[in-house]
Amino acid sequence: MPEFQRPTGTQDILPPESSRWDAMVARFAVTVEAAGYGLVLGPLFEDVALFQRVGESTDVVRKQMYDFEDKGGRRIALRPEVTASIVRVYVDKRPTTPWKVWSVGPNFRYESPQAGRYRQFYQLDIEAIGSADPDLDVEIISLGWNFYAALGLRQVTLLLNSLGDGACRPAYRELLRSYLDEHRGELCDEHKVRLDENPLRILDCKDPACVAVTANAPRQLDHLCEPCQAHFDRVRRGLDSLGIPYQIDSRLVRGLDYYTRTTFEYVALALDAAQNAIGGGGRYDGLVEEMGGPPTPGIGFAVGIERILLACDAEGVLASADVAPVLDVFVVDFAGGESAVTLTAELRAAGLRADRAFDGRSPRAQLKAADRSGARLALIVGPDEAASDRVAIKDLRGGEAGEAGQETVTKADAVAEVRRRLGKRPASAPNVTK
Ligand code: HAM
Repeated sequence: MPEFQRPTGTQDILPPESSRWDAMVARFAVTVEAAGYGLVLGPLFEDVALFQRVGESTDVVRKQMYDFEDKGGRRIALRPEVTASIVRVYVDKRPTTPWKVWSVGPNFRYESPQAGRYRQFYQLDIEAIGSADPDLDVEIISLGWNFYAALGLRQVTLLLNSLGDGACRPAYRELLRSYLDEHRGELCDEHKVRLDENPLRILDCKDPACVAVTANAPRQLDHLCEPCQAHFDRVRRGLDSLGIPYQIDSRLVRGLDYYTRTTFEYVALALDAAQNAIGGGGRYDGLVEEMGGPPTPGIGFAVGIERILLACDAEGVLASADVAPVLDVFVVDFAGGESAVTLTAELRAAGLRADRAFDGRSPRAQLKAADRSGARLALIVGPDEAASDRVAIKDLRGGEAGEAGQETVTKADAVAEVRRRLGKRPASAPNVTK
């Protein structure tokens, strides 16, 4: 057993698995940048008060936050999500609206680790701040939908709800509170006590006791004010017009407090219910103001990379073999000169994927390494070749064969010959290109 182990709930992502991450981030970037969203990268830690503002009554903030005092005596939290940071930036910089951005990176939640549930996990996140247009809800929701489709996922369900706004939610909340109060004794132990804090949270509780009580609870959707109803209807029509199927889920309140109006979640049917939410989000029309900015609507979602990969495994798509970068050529040099240094550099400068052996290994060991590397071709410089300023070129996958599958070309022609044999343009990731 090694002395040091990775912390509970974290993962080491190694090649070739990591190429699936690369592919996924690239696919997300292609999807959202085509719709005008630009990349924003922020700090992984923030003033703890920022997150307390967005989720005081949520488990994410109350129970799962990694918070600590730094050496300067500041109360810091590792970010449990990205939206709060992006809204902070918006309030600070006031960019022109709609401000359409996306982000990628790790988040931290002190969860009970299990498959698909980690203490450090990666999200791809998208936010559009500054427009209340329901067509923007449709744009955002459809980008998520298209992203999953582009990965090859087919068994994804979109759940849709509206949580109303400041005009209609308070009355609904009171209605729900008094309904739940009548059933207080039947709720789970935690919610018996915390019912009055935020009754909406109970709709999200997975404890069978709460699920049974809330099955017949009043639905926000039946108590929307006219503008919220019109907004929701328009979102539905927009999704219909794009042919994006959805299921209405009146219990979808989401795990953070800032949502208003449209909320949605993408569920992978191929995964177990406990972690089949592969993405989710919604409108947060009050959040910018809550953080000290002018009243400004916003909407966004985040998807969990690890969970999407589990869904890809379950559906048999996005295998690492399909997306891992493949070497074009491997340089073998047993003449002892600088050929490996210069040839490899020339190949790479020409846009080819090239690797080589190190440590002056024997010809046999180098050729074995070339075979193992997965490269299509080997360029070989032995003493004879070095003396005549030539290199031998060998097809490692048994393609075009000269003498024993190998022929020589002048060093000056080597790059062109490699290109010709590969029949290709400069190398790029095989399936997912940016
Ligand atoms: P969230 O639902 O808390 O929303 O997280 C979004 C996604 O992150 C989840 O659907 C799931 O795929 C993934 N995820 C969450 N927790 C974990 C975990 N412990 N392990 C693995 N994956 C996880 C938000 O974070 C909001 N900020 C989304 C948003 C953006 N709303 C508006 N804009």
